[in-house]
Amino acid sequence: MEREAFWRAAQQVLARMARYLDEVEGFPVRAQVGPGEVEARLPDHAPETGETIEAILADLDRILLPGLTHWQHPRFFAYFPANSSPPSVLAEMLTATFAVNAMLWQTSPAATELEVRVLDWLRQAVGLPEGFRGVIQSTASEATLCALLAARERKSGFRAREEGLFGLPRMVVYASEEAHSSVEKAAMIAGFGRSGLRRIPVDEELAMDPEALERAVRADLDQGLVPCCVVATLGTTGSGAFDPLSAIGEICRRFDLYYHIDAAWAGSALILPEWRHLGEGMELADSFVFNPHKWLLTNFDCSAHFLRQPEELVRALSVLPLYLHTREHGKVVDYRDWGIPLGRRFRALKLWFVLRSYGLEGLRAVLRRHIALAEELAARIRAEPDFELTTGPQLALLTFRYRPSWADPEALDALNQRLLDRVNEDGFTYLTPTRVRGRYVLRLCIGQTRTEARHVEEAWRRIVALARGLAPQDDGDPASAAGRQR
Ligand SMILES: Cc1ncc(COP(=O)(O)O)c(C=O)c1O
Repeated sequence: MEREAFWRAAQQVLARMARYLDEVEGFPVRAQVGPGEVEARLPDHAPETGETIEAILADLDRILLPGLTHWQHPRFFAYFPANSSPPSVLAEMLTATFAVNAMLWQTSPAATELEVRVLDWLRQAVGLPEGFRGVIQSTASEATLCALLAARERKSGFRAREEGLFGLPRMVVYASEEAHSSVEKAAMIAGFGRSGLRRIPVDEELAMDPEALERAVRADLDQGLVPCCVVATLGTTGSGAFDPLSAIGEICRRFDLYYHIDAAWAGSALILPEWRHLGEGMELADSFVFNPHKWLLTNFDCSAHFLRQPEELVRALSVLPLYLHTREHGKVVDYRDWGIPLGRRFRALKLWFVLRSYGLEGLRAVLRRHIALAEELAARIRAEPDFELTTGPQLALLTFRYRPSWADPEALDALNQRLLDRVNEDGFTYLTPTRVRGRYVLRLCIGQTRTEARHVEEAWRRIVALARGLAPQDDGDPASAAGRQR
């Protein structure tokens, strides 16, 4: 693409981006396409000759947009948000333009040094003590895998990386029953195996029971196994529960266990002084991760991973062929061995843009708004006699279920599954389910950058209408059932 064509195309793409952000609220939140529909509209072969930007953008609108689920829609309440913001988007454009590979200090000193600096800004903002050093990983899953690898090497005296696990005593990882599936995946990849992961029971609040943890560690020691690592969760995926970080950290110290804290979602809330207490005990961690790409207005991918002793991880992962050796080796940060991939995008730029554009106070204001909206919604749910608030709000996450007096208590799971299907088929809003103490419930997390009170109110009104359309005599037609309520 020649210079003139680039200028023209860039303006069109920028205009399309701005229009998308203006229009996104008008789209169904969840894509309304069936499996294979998008693929069927795409040609079987790549074009032999180049096409115009106009043709490409026309197909973007015609073929791809209907197949997108709109994560930046203000009525997106599913999963955890993966929010974004205009400064972050603009920085991503620059990152793509520079297209540097920040694997070594030398391959782009500014990318490395900006990453060191902005992660230290974040460290201070969330209240981690000095001494922790940060790196941007793609995902919390990768950070957890790195933590387990560092733990494995520490415990094996760095033998696992040399000899594999076969000759070593069996090592064990601990996480609560509510911990994210990425812990299980990391245990599988790092060689602990699923059977080397102990799922520790939770208390009434769905937080890890530290006494149960200690019992599990002792039981493994009695059996000649080697307790290696604990993963605590600050803000569980299902209900946003907070594991007791200090008590767990104290057990880790006592039994010499590597301590990783997965704060993927809730970690962002630690920038709020009024919620800082949630992080009490995080100073005991060896490794701590949270995702600015979830709740800090920074595009996916951006996981902030802090390590007390990054040298351990580097030693665990280090391989140094001649082509990666530079004169500065050992005197600078070379991020190549702080994570799994060698190649690294210049992701610090978007964090820098976001932190500078909003300032910490600007970011706090957004998070506070989300938390206040969740509190207001919780009050509405409590006020409805046929609904039950099952957990929360924990920050901006709550769970609830529909429990009309006519429903057989045994059939509530099926009824709520039916409700979720109707809510999501409708496209007006988007929620995901979870289980709370064995019961199927609906889960709603507020975190999209532009969500305001009216979006939550509209979504709630629609949920209530769809629920009350689920009468026992329901004929299975959502439109007629919901229609009776309007
Ligand atoms: C507690 C927790 N940990 C880890 C993850 C995985 O995050 P990522 O997609 O960054 O790997 C999630 C995802 O929602 C999560 O809720």
